Amino acid sequence: MQLDSWAVFCNDALQLNASRQLAEQLVVPLLDEESVVLAPQAFFLSYRQGCLMLLDRQTLRKGGLAVDIEPRPGEQHSYPAPKKDLLAQAIGRKTRSVIDATTGWAQDSLAIFRMGYELQCIERSPLMAALISDGFQRLAQKDWMLNRQLQPPRLISGNAIQLLADLAVAPDCIYLDPMFPAKPKKSALPKKAMLILRDILGDDLDRAELFAAAWQASAKRVVVKSPDYAEPIAGKPAETHQGKLLRYDVYIK
Ligand SMILES: C[S@@+](CC[C@H](N)C(=O)[O-])C[C@H]1O[C@@H](n2cnc3c(N)ncnc32)[C@H](O)[C@@H]1O
Repeated sequence: MQLDSWAVFCNDALQLNASRQLAEQLVVPLLDEESVVLAPQAFFLSYRQGCLMLLDRQTLRKGGLAVDIEPRPGEQHSYPAPKKDLLAQAIGRKTRSVIDATTGWAQDSLAIFRMGYELQCIERSPLMAALISDGFQRLAQKDWMLNRQLQPPRLISGNAIQLLADLAVAPDCIYLDPMFPAKPKKSALPKKAMLILRDILGDDLDRAELFAAAWQASAKRVVVKSPDYAEPIAGKPAETHQGKLLRYDVYIK
């Protein structure tokens, strides 16, 4: 992604201080209603409706995408949620600690967290890390979190290929969901959130290197989420949990 492709946008005086702080922290321009018009950026972070949101030029005035911290449709609203879906089978019932090394919109991370696993998250895009951090702050304020004195997962901003090599304690499981090249004719239409992520970040071309780092760093297993058309990332996995359009390949040590 080019450096000038995103900025912080603020058109609400009440959010000016927080927006200025965010722009300084991320070392990106802070734009207002006037300066945004001719600015070269295509994507913006903006505080809106109590969330940090990702906007493109179409959603500059209204809308945007934030990390959704609510349970997925069909997920049981209890904590810990039952470990019964494909994701839980792939992570393993006996697994305790998990690192999600490709957090993205944190939807898998949050599902893993709600199932009661000890979770740490890594994300290398500073833009996504800012959105995740905002989501985790909102999560911390939820009644069910406060009542149980739960802390949101720790988020580490940086490249997992380097960060995993420096871990003090090996987690039981490392979870990977890198961006694979799209195959539009064969796959379902991805959600807007994933499309925009692809527009901003592109494919993760260093997937094999990431897998190698995860394999070295995990104590027991590496789980790779793949679209159904993609070849397994590291040869034949020990287990595959097949969904409708995706699968979880499990490599066991
Ligand atoms: C397909 S998205 C993950 C979606 C996520 N599983 C979810 O539920 O929203 C891939 C994400 O992994 C991040 N990523 C890819 N390679 C990485 C690496 N080596 N280190 C850290 N983050 C990485 C990308 O920046 C991107 O945000």
